[in-house]
Amino acid sequence: MHDSRETFGRQAFVTGYPVKHSRSPLIHGYWLETLGLAGSYKRQEVKPEDFAGFLSRLKSGESGFVGGNVTIPHKELAFRLADKPDALSEELGASNTLWLEEGALHATNTDGFGFLANLDATAPGWDRTDRAVILGAGGASRAIIQAVRDRGVGEIHVVNRTVERAEELAARFGPKVHAHAMPALAEVSKGAGLFVNTTSLGMDGEAAPDFDFSPLAVGAVVTDIVYVPLITPILRQAAEQGFATVDGLGMLLHQAAPGFEKWFGTRPVVDAALRRLILADM
Ligand code: ATR
Repeated sequence: MHDSRETFGRQAFVTGYPVKHSRSPLIHGYWLETLGLAGSYKRQEVKPEDFAGFLSRLKSGESGFVGGNVTIPHKELAFRLADKPDALSEELGASNTLWLEEGALHATNTDGFGFLANLDATAPGWDRTDRAVILGAGGASRAIIQAVRDRGVGEIHVVNRTVERAEELAARFGPKVHAHAMPALAEVSKGAGLFVNTTSLGMDGEAAPDFDFSPLAVGAVVTDIVYVPLITPILRQAAEQGFATVDGLGMLLHQAAPGFEKWFGTRPVVDAALRRLILADM
């Protein structure tokens, strides 16, 4: 029998509330076009109270989607309502990527993958260090702690304004992860080969405090998940102090790739033209 999906292509979504600022449609649209695939990727703004219904229509096939991305504030509910969340999502308690497979709704979280893939692409060898410092203890921090731990970095020091949140993450992620309050930052940075900002410090042109990166190991990599502006105050200071820096745009692009492959069947490539496209939209 003729399957209309083969003519019009598969359909995927990004859902959130609000979702109008999501850059995911640009990313997936670029890949669909450059790979010559029939398919679509659309924004679906769904209120929190309507999200369970949205997922039921996804599962039943009524909505016509093969899967999609989930952003704030639906990531926790997406995890809880999925039939088959993977082990990464289980540990994080949140999923950002959904897909249907043999009638079951699968879920994963690709933020950690995106973080690692970006560092691997732009600072190969970064993972030779045995010590990382992660500033911040929110949702993004969780996925990054998990990824850095799973890559085998021996000691991960989470530093947060509200130390209780860092302590909660240390308890969740096991003995390699240690929690600290802000005043400990310089001390725990001694000899670290990776420094990650997961807070909103320096976002959208806001000033950030002065950071002294000198305790870091020679050749350490400093990265920021903020990508507006692309060169954040934290990255600028790190570069001025002689450290390698990696901006956060690559994480956004790389985290999108596994979902695209699930929905459309082809692993896409993060290339310079895609970076330019997103930068032109900022
Ligand atoms: P996300 O899910 O994007 O990580 P989040 O859960 O709101 O966002 O977490 C934001 C992080 O940025 C937190 O670690 C927060 O610190 P607190 O836990 O103390 O709130 C941190 N953060 C935000 N603004 C900050 C500031 N001005 N100084 C220091 N840390 C800040």
